Amino acid sequence: MRGVVFEEPGRVVVGEVPDPQVLEATDAVIQVTRAGLCGSDLHPWTGAEPAGSGVVCGHEATGQVVAVGDDVRTVAPGDDVIACFTTSCGRCGPCREGLTARCVHGQLFGWGPPDNPAGGLHGGQAELLRVPLADGTLVPRPTGISADAAVLLADNMPTAWYAARRAEVLPGTRVGVIGLGAVGLCAIAACRALGAAEVVAVDPVPSRRAAADRLGARTTTPDDAALADTGLDAVIEAAGPSAAQRLAASMLRPGGVVSIIAVQTAEAFGISPVTAYDRNLTIRAGRAPVRAVLEEVLPAIVDGRLQLPVEEVVTHPRLPLADAPDAYARFAAREEGMVKVTFAP
Ligand SMILES: NC(=O)c1ccc[n+]([C@@H]2O[C@H](COP(=O)([O-])OP(=O)(O)OC[C@H]3O[C@@H](n4cnc5c(N)ncnc54)[C@H](O)[C@@H]3O)[C@@H](O)[C@H]2O)c1
Ligand SMILES: [Zn+2]
Ligand SMILES: [Zn+2]
Repeated sequence: MRGVVFEEPGRVVVGEVPDPQVLEATDAVIQVTRAGLCGSDLHPWTGAEPAGSGVVCGHEATGQVVAVGDDVRTVAPGDDVIACFTTSCGRCGPCREGLTARCVHGQLFGWGPPDNPAGGLHGGQAELLRVPLADGTLVPRPTGISADAAVLLADNMPTAWYAARRAEVLPGTRVGVIGLGAVGLCAIAACRALGAAEVVAVDPVPSRRAAADRLGARTTTPDDAALADTGLDAVIEAAGPSAAQRLAASMLRPGGVVSIIAVQTAEAFGISPVTAYDRNLTIRAGRAPVRAVLEEVLPAIVDGRLQLPVEEVVTHPRLPLADAPDAYARFAAREEGMVKVTFAP
């Protein structure tokens, strides 16, 4: 099959790789109809996060089941499914507590450890995807949900929902969102669905601010926010740099909550212990347990409380895999008008 393979920082290649097979009785193999390109794919690409070469990229996929192992009970060949971006057993302590992203048997799709890439799990930017722990990892794709919407449900939308929940967004909350990529834009939708009174959306990229504006947020640049926006109850940090965390702290009222959803690659937060102490801040961070969060997100979509911002987020849908090297470079450069790419393998 063809797949997008990580070689080294700044370089992914599209080529022939072995077809994945059912290796364990709990595996499924899906034919990928759509796969996302995520801000998280950029951390190995920029070199900020060490990763081994030779692993198929991508952790956001939807497709049709083509094979299952003998112990798989909840999905069958022919089913349309969404693959959560980490695998989970559904039975261990973290899974039972709803922390499926930290399943003791879990793996992240599309990333291999730098010292042992063979120990990684090939990802979804390919024609076929092997899904370990299929019963705990795959979710049936709800009727009426497009393939591009399903890609958002594999990561960005439940991740944003989790960030909003951990920001303690309730009816009337005044919340900031820093970083208006796919995660930040989905976070605006989540905050509105949870009843936020005001969403202040911050990003240096004009086209991303325009998208946030269309989703109902008040938008501003990082420089203007630092001068003018204070006293918020909570801030969702979906950008990553220390500067974004410092900005988050400056925008909060005493006792406010910083919900850091950006992947962390630094040794220390941008918010000092002194600032956290002096302002009584709560700081939360971590990987989103998508499988568990979907239990809340899917009903919210079905009953109309939550609108998936597919049009604003998936600006470059259905690219062929052959375009991946170019798409990675343009996405990393934050090209105006580009928020999210999806591939149709
Ligand atoms: N915790 C999780 O489970 C999880 C899941 C998915 C993605 N993520 C992470 O969330 C983050 C966002 O993902 P994405 O796909 O939206 O990425 P993205 O790279 O498309 O978006 C990041 C945005 O932050 C903005 N930004 C950068 N520095 C800024 C600053 N100082 N102030 C304001 N804005 C700034 C950029 O202009 C960009 O628009 C990434 O770190 C990604 O790895 C985490
Ligand atoms: Zn992702
Ligand atoms: Zn588990």
